[in-house]
Amino acid sequence: MSLSHVAQTTPVTPHCHAKEDLQARYRGVRQDTEDLCRPLATEDYCIQTEPFVSPTKWHIAHISWFFEAFVLKHFEPAYREFDPRFDYLFNSYYVTHSEPYPRPERGLLSRPTVDEIYRYRAHVDDAILELIDSADDDLWQALSDRVILGLNHEQQHQELMLTDIKHVFARNPLRPAYREINTMTESESNPMRWIEFDGGVRDIGHDDDDDFCFDSETPRHHVLTNDHVLASRLVTNGEYIEFIEAGGYGEPDHWLSDGWSSVCQHKWEAPSYWERQDSNWWQMTLGGMRRLNEHEPVCHVSFYEADAYARWAGRRLPTEAELELIAVGKEIEGNLREADRLHPTAAPSGDGLVQVYGDVWEWTQSPYAPYPGFVSLDGSLGEYNGKFMCNQMVLRGGSCVTPRSHMRATYRNFFYPPDRWQFTGIRLAGDF
Ligand SMILES: [Fe+2]
Repeated sequence: MSLSHVAQTTPVTPHCHAKEDLQARYRGVRQDTEDLCRPLATEDYCIQTEPFVSPTKWHIAHISWFFEAFVLKHFEPAYREFDPRFDYLFNSYYVTHSEPYPRPERGLLSRPTVDEIYRYRAHVDDAILELIDSADDDLWQALSDRVILGLNHEQQHQELMLTDIKHVFARNPLRPAYREINTMTESESNPMRWIEFDGGVRDIGHDDDDDFCFDSETPRHHVLTNDHVLASRLVTNGEYIEFIEAGGYGEPDHWLSDGWSSVCQHKWEAPSYWERQDSNWWQMTLGGMRRLNEHEPVCHVSFYEADAYARWAGRRLPTEAELELIAVGKEIEGNLREADRLHPTAAPSGDGLVQVYGDVWEWTQSPYAPYPGFVSLDGSLGEYNGKFMCNQMVLRGGSCVTPRSHMRATYRNFFYPPDRWQFTGIRLAGDF
C-alpha cells in the first residue's frame, strides 16, 4: 500500500511470523546487494564516469542511509548513528531532510573506505532487525510499510548498480567483464506481428492496498484508449541496423527537435555501447565486448532514438496505458534479473505478445506526470517521486537487470529523454 495511507490504517498485531517474514525479506534483499558486489575489486567500487553514474560504494552506503534516515531515526529514539557525517555524504536529493553532498562529486569520496561502508551497512542491519523485533502494535503497520519501501528502494539501486558498473567498465580501455555471462542466443526472433486492441474507457493504476506500490502508481483512474496495434515483440538489433544503414542518424526529418540537437551535440551514430570494428558491430555487455547479435532486442537507446526509429518505421511509441493494459494479468516472467543473463535476449516463440516483462525497459510516449488525484507521500519522502514529474518519460516492463519481485503491471519507471545508459529499448505501436 502507499505510505500516504499510513495515517489512516488501523494497527495490526505484529505476530511473530509477520516479524520473521519481514526480517527474512530484509536479510534477503540486503544479501542480494552484497552478492551483486561480489565480482567487483575494491578499486571498482569508487569510480564515477559521469555525473549521472554513481560509484558502487556510494550506492551501498546510500541505501543504508535511507534506512537510517527514514526508519531508524524516525521510529527508534535510542538509535545512534554509525557516523553523523554520513547524513550529508549519502543523502541523494532529499533537500527537506538535509543538504545533500553534490552528486557529480560522489567519485571523489575515497573515504570512507569500502570496508567502513560495509561496517556501516552491518550497523544499520543490526538496528533494523532489532527494531522489527521490538515493534509493538502501535508501531507495526507504519514501521513495516516503511521498511518495505526501503527494500523496494534498495532493489531500484541494485539495478542502478549494474547499469552504472557497466558504464564504468565500458569507459575502461581494457573493457573488463563484470562477470561471465551467456549472451549466445541460438534461436532467431520470430517475425514481428501486429496485435489489435479495441479502444475504450479503461482503468489503470494501482488499487490493491495489500501490495506495495510507489505513490506515483496511484490513484487508479479512467483513461481513454483508441483502437490500436502493438508489436508482438521488441525491436531487434537487426531491425535497428536497417535504420542506421538507411541514414537514420543523418536525416533530421525523423527526429524531434530536441532529439536532433542531441544527435548533433553527442555525435550519436548508433545506440550506446555499440562499436563498429571493420564491417561488424560489437557491443559492450556486462560480460565484456561481444559481437552484436541481430536477433536480440536493441538496447541502450534514448527516448529520442526510440521515437525517431518509430517515425522512420511508420509507427509510433506506445502510451503507458497501452502497455499497462497488456501487462495486467500476465505472469511476471521473462528475462528479468533472476534469469541471470544480465543481457537482453531474442524473443521467445509464442502466439501473443512476448517480452512484456524483462529484457529492456520500453520507452513510451507518455510524460511522467501525476495521475488525476495524485498525492505525494508525507514529509521528506514526498520527494521520492513527485518532484520529478517534469520533463521525463515513462518506461514500462522492467529489464534483464530488474529483480522479478520488484516488478508489477502498474510500475512506472522514468528517465530523461536523452538518457541511454539504462537497459532501454523499443516496442512499436500504431493506430488503425
Ligand atoms: Fe535512492
